[in-house]
Amino acid sequence: MAQQPPTFKTVFVFLDTDKYCSPFDLLVAIDAFPDSMIFKYENVTGEDAPKIVYDLLFPRGPAGAAHTKVFINGSNFEEVEKVVAATQKAMSTAPWGNSIIVDPRGGYSTAAAAVAKTFGASMERGRGSLEGKKVTVLAGTGPVGQTAARIYAAEKADVTISSRSLAKGQVVADKINAECSAKRVKVVEVSKPEQTAAAVKDAEIILAAGAGGIQLLTAADLAAAPKCKIVGDINAIKPLGVEGLGPNDDKEMKPGVWGIGALAIGKLKIKTEVEMIKRATAEPQGLFDYAIAYTIAKDQILKKLAKAAAK
Ligand SMILES: NC(=O)c1ccc[n+]([C@@H]2O[C@H](COP(=O)([O-])OP(=O)(O)OC[C@H]3O[C@@H](n4cnc5c(N)ncnc54)[C@H](OP(=O)(O)O)[C@@H]3O)[C@@H](O)[C@H]2O)c1
Repeated sequence: MAQQPPTFKTVFVFLDTDKYCSPFDLLVAIDAFPDSMIFKYENVTGEDAPKIVYDLLFPRGPAGAAHTKVFINGSNFEEVEKVVAATQKAMSTAPWGNSIIVDPRGGYSTAAAAVAKTFGASMERGRGSLEGKKVTVLAGTGPVGQTAARIYAAEKADVTISSRSLAKGQVVADKINAECSAKRVKVVEVSKPEQTAAAVKDAEIILAAGAGGIQLLTAADLAAAPKCKIVGDINAIKPLGVEGLGPNDDKEMKPGVWGIGALAIGKLKIKTEVEMIKRATAEPQGLFDYAIAYTIAKDQILKKLAKAAAK
């Protein structure tokens, strides 16, 4: 009797740098693929990653490895980057590899969705693409903020990030500028609320990317930004990041200014993350990170724009 080829279940192996693996992404993965299985490893460091990677890579052979997906996660952005680098290095020395999904505490998919939503608002209002736009990312040093700044810079926007610490912000700006071989990101210190107006005075687009429950932009600050036409907020925990912008808003928040609230961004974020997981699952290997997340989110927006134009 002819031997049946092996059939492989999809397995997501979560490598999380935190003490507890966040259930958020475990649930998103299992809902995208209800027949899949999840293995989770916590407190993972760059040093630990190669051992786990070799042990997940070899047992199923190349055919099975195509069904084993690595999802790298965690709130420590630097450690996540070390785990990604160590995972890629380990796979480069093996005869085959696996797909690697990277979305540290939703930072990549959220930033991708936030930037794509502001791109869409700009296009819909006849203001064109992000290239050359003056964008201020408030609190642009966290996982979401620095990824948004990185994507805006890749879109050739003129980016300002704010931070309570100039030195902390400069580390982020230097990293992004080195990556795009151009000085596209600069830093302003906002250690007191009264410094915010100066950080946004020339901005055409403002994205508030601060920690949950911190208001970063008041109505008075926005009034001091006469060129600003689009404002986004990613903080869904009260007090919200932008005064006068509700979490579900995707509408004109004051004459001539389009506001996009955290939950409106969150809807595109979830679609983006699910599609990242689907694409990683369809491919035997590859890196599925912020760049893929942005391609997915922007494609969704471009489709919406095309549909509206066809009406
Ligand atoms: N909408 C969604 O779908 C979604 C998904 C994931 C996350 N989120 C939200 O996205 C936001 C950013 O996430 P994250 O992980 O990047 O945030 P985070 O690292 O906790 O904070 C981002 C930045 O906020 C600044 N900050 C912290 N405490 C502050 C304070 N008391 N006053 C002023 N600034 C302060 C810090 O910048 P400096 O130290 O440089 O000043 C920090 O780097 C959070 O609100 C999170 O809940 C939203």
